[in-house]
Amino acid sequence: MNVVVLSGAGISAESGISTFRDSDGLWEKYRIEDVATPEAWYRDPALVLDFYDQRREQVRAAASNAAHMALARLQDVAMVQIVTQNIDDLHERAGSRHVLHLHGEIVLARSTVPPYETYPAGGNIALGDLCPRGAQLRPHVVWFGEEVPMLERAARIVQKADVLLVVGTSLQVYPAAGLVQYAPKGCKIIVIDPNAPHISGMDVVTIKEKAGVALPRLVEEWMGHKL
Ligand code: OAD
Repeated sequence: MNVVVLSGAGISAESGISTFRDSDGLWEKYRIEDVATPEAWYRDPALVLDFYDQRREQVRAAASNAAHMALARLQDVAMVQIVTQNIDDLHERAGSRHVLHLHGEIVLARSTVPPYETYPAGGNIALGDLCPRGAQLRPHVVWFGEEVPMLERAARIVQKADVLLVVGTSLQVYPAAGLVQYAPKGCKIIVIDPNAPHISGMDVVTIKEKAGVALPRLVEEWMGHKL
């Protein structure tokens, strides 16, 4: 059984990590164009670095929650591949072995010159922190208006799903949101989100509950039936 998970900020909400579009979400406090675009980086890199330093500190202080851990347990009975829009590492810390980050990883820094190599980002990234080639480092995240290099790999993973779990994402950001459409015929699609987005043209089971409640229950049920 091939379980593919498309996760978003909502799966980490119960770990205390801010979502983007809920009330009190990050995009109520910041304007995307000020902190999450290449133009913002050219205009005011210190502001952009500060925004992502805060994200990194929030992630470092957080721990995986019951939803992340349930997905890690599910690996005992199924092949579980996670495609996450999240830049946190809470899936990995819970023990999930196959995690693809569509929008980058906050625990890594990236060079601003080709071949855009990544480096562990211990603490904050400061202006003047350079890669070995002498270029400024930036957070290893995908900004609005940038390519999503992992997209094709993600689409190939979704195309092989027997079950697609869509957890904690408003499905408002493309191309990530379009990945659901790659689910093959016969794939069971389950959406877990208290405020679940509508997915048009597809047969979907919706569970309007928090991920930390619904996922452990679902996984226990599946494990009981030896998926
Ligand atoms: P959003 O903030 O857009 O959506 C979060 C979703 O999580 C909403 O549908 C909530 O209802 C749901 N949610 C909240 N708490 C939950 C819980 N405890 N359990 C389950 N669901 C819960 O976040 P994303 O869809 O991940 O990209 O946002 C997508 C992208 O937009 C992000 O990766 C980021 C952002 O701008 C970039 O910065 C490029």
